[in-house]
Amino acid sequence: MDEATISDVLVVGSGAAGLTVALQLAPQARVTLLSKGDLAESSTLYAQGGIAAVLDATDSTEFHIADTLVAGAGLCDADVVRFVVENAKDAISRLIGYGVEFTRNDEPAAKQAYHLTREGGHSHRRIIHAADATGREVEKTLEERVRETPNIEIFEHHLAIDLVRQKDADGRPGRCAGLYALDRQTGTVRLFRAKAVVLASGGASKVYLYSSNPDACTGDGIAMAWRVGCRVSNLEFMQFHPTVLYHPTAKSFLVSEAVRGEGGRLLLPTTGERFMPRFDERGELAPRDIVARAIDHEMKRLGLDYVHLDISHQPAEFITTHFPTIHAECLRLGIDMTCQPIPVVPAAHYTCGGVMTDKRGRTDVPGLYAVGEVAFTGLHGANRMASNSLLECLVFGASAAADIHARLPSLPMPPALPAWDDSWVTNSDEEVVVSHNWEELRRFMWDYVGIVRTTKRLERAQHRVELLLSEIEDYYGSFRVTNDLLELRNLALVSKLIIRSALARRESRGLHYTLDFPYPDPVAAPQNSILTPKRFRLAPQD
Ligand code: FAD
Ligand code: SIN
Repeated sequence: MDEATISDVLVVGSGAAGLTVALQLAPQARVTLLSKGDLAESSTLYAQGGIAAVLDATDSTEFHIADTLVAGAGLCDADVVRFVVENAKDAISRLIGYGVEFTRNDEPAAKQAYHLTREGGHSHRRIIHAADATGREVEKTLEERVRETPNIEIFEHHLAIDLVRQKDADGRPGRCAGLYALDRQTGTVRLFRAKAVVLASGGASKVYLYSSNPDACTGDGIAMAWRVGCRVSNLEFMQFHPTVLYHPTAKSFLVSEAVRGEGGRLLLPTTGERFMPRFDERGELAPRDIVARAIDHEMKRLGLDYVHLDISHQPAEFITTHFPTIHAECLRLGIDMTCQPIPVVPAAHYTCGGVMTDKRGRTDVPGLYAVGEVAFTGLHGANRMASNSLLECLVFGASAAADIHARLPSLPMPPALPAWDDSWVTNSDEEVVVSHNWEELRRFMWDYVGIVRTTKRLERAQHRVELLLSEIEDYYGSFRVTNDLLELRNLALVSKLIIRSALARRESRGLHYTLDFPYPDPVAAPQNSILTPKRFRLAPQD
């Protein structure tokens, strides 16, 4: 018998998606929860703006659906959008039930108990939030609930390497039965087995040199799912957030879209001109793809390092009450946003595509689910609308948990699996290969596969990524696995899939903008780009 950790359900990732699945299942099921770093370290922790939900009498689910469809530029699955929007209120109630404290409305005349802010693409105020640190409030509260739940066993600092599919009677790949994970503290590889495995491992924005995301967002779940045979979709739609703080010592600090929602204006630092109205009648509150492209255009046109985001016309007390975190971080860096503009640049922010799932979170591989940013559900289309992402984690987290719960009694116990075998590899004596390739990959992705693309640049990137991948595979086959090597291997694979998807889309739509095809295809109906793995790469022992 192998020395595996065995549970009913194995959840990879402890952001909003993973914690929701774990909490929804734990009363009935034994859950194992893996996180790459500390439990709370995730994109969820850094979310600022809030969660979109129809909570005001002047708003309606039809408006929320319509806004999401417009932002998605023709590629949202209308049925999925309705499913998410209609389940939003319950998702928020569940969070409040867990103890999440959202900012309350202090206006005496307000009918709604909670303050609702606005963000790009939303026609109404519908973003419920905890000041400008919504993610911290959600993540920390769910973490507390998870840590006090006896049925959840937590493995922090465990990096999932590869999923394992059991063999069917005919020798073909069958159900997903577990995975191998690197214990980052001891350097050993452990085996985890479960009746169902849920990928909740977040996005892949770290394929780019500049990103708003924490370091964990290296696309591991997308890469792992692809390697065991899952289709992936719409990976060309990588979202760039328009306003990440520009400062030599600030690492990936976001300046929330809610700052624009509450009146912040984008200005040219040279002349003070408010430039967004030249690009879109919605000005600073146009969907993100439009705002990020406009900033990129102005920066390239004028040779600027950044543009200004200015909310200093609002009263200082309003600014410090609504944006205490952003205010404090800017002040720490010598920028007082109550009387000065904030220098900002666009940076990679969100992975709209991902592992294809249905409304229950099921992927193409039996026993394997994907929930949250790792997944492609059809909600976001060609461009995610602000604050629809945490909502997706919460709604699909619950629907996947319900599906697993209903099926658990009939799911087979996972069979014994081979232990990780690294007897044929040695310790690396060339770590520089990993650090060099990591740097090179993220730079050419930024330069060639960024906000504005061309076929020639994409082909250059494709050529380079193939070279990197063969070097990385060679290295992977020769040396003991390390954290950086595993992340690089995943980043390179996901980059390849992004480039392939971008080359296949011979039009501009939503977040994918190419100078060679600058308009949406005028003839063909909008199509998702779907990639299907040709062969299933199983864990090394199979
Ligand atoms: P994450 O929260 O990223 O969690 C991923 C988890 O997977 C982590 O626990 C990580 O350790 C784990 N993991 C990854 N790989 C492995 C592996 N190989 N092995 C083991 N564990 C692994 N969205 C909104 O809706 N509203 C907002 O206001 C908002 N603001 C944002 C602000 C910032 C700065 C950022 C970066 C994003 C923001 N987003 C916002 C997007 C949103 O936060 C994310 O899409 C969402 O939190 C994703 O949740 P998740 O659970 O899917 O993944
Ligand atoms: C923000 O606060 O600007 C981020 C919102 C989001 O990504 O949904």
